[in-house]
Amino acid sequence: MTLKAGFALRLATLDDIAVLIKIESEVSPFPWNAKQFTESLHKHRAYVLCKGNRAVAFLIFNQVVDEAELLNIAVKSSFQGEGLGAYLLDYCLAEVSATAVSVFLEVRVSNFPAIALYEGRSFRHVGERKAYYHGESGREDALVMRCDIESPPAI
Ligand SMILES: CC(C)(COP(=O)(O)OP(=O)(O)OC[C@H]1O[C@@H](n2cnc3c(N)ncnc32)[C@H](O)[C@@H]1OP(=O)(O)O)[C@@H](O)C(=O)NCCC(=O)NCCS
Repeated sequence: MTLKAGFALRLATLDDIAVLIKIESEVSPFPWNAKQFTESLHKHRAYVLCKGNRAVAFLIFNQVVDEAELLNIAVKSSFQGEGLGAYLLDYCLAEVSATAVSVFLEVRVSNFPAIALYEGRSFRHVGERKAYYHGESGREDALVMRCDIESPPAI
């Protein structure tokens, strides 16, 4: 899990919200709004991946007791396909690996790039939530995926 030269990961702050919205609006059909990002930054663990001073991707996750949840991940379109999404997901898994036994997430059934990313990191399909998301034509189902952390410590 290494980052290419010139890239750096740092904690997100409330000052990043505008750029987080900008990144997500570019790559997601129904992006989070400012309220959702603000609440997430207060309650969850949020990171921004920068190239130089410019934010190009972000990661938001949470952990309750021994269960973690990936809440949002996005890479600016001009930086996709370069391993940044995989880096962020690996970072999340590494961050929770000492204290969590599993990581859950929800993803649109039509989001093939994200599903491929998760399947490549040992996430497995464990359920569905019918009509969970707003869709272009009506509602769209969510896949629930889980990654079991290997050799979790006793807690
Ligand atoms: C999903 C997302 C974060 C992937 O980021 P990325 O930096 O492009 O991904 P990477 O370059 O690290 O690729 C990692 C893996 O993801 C999968 N992947 C990424 N883009 C893909 C595409 N267009 N088609 C199919 N698989 C793709 C592949 O399995 C890839 O592994 P490989 O390179 O060995 O083939 C990015 O597409 C994105 O921001 N999407 C919009 C936001 C979103 O959908 N977030 C998820 C919400 S649940």
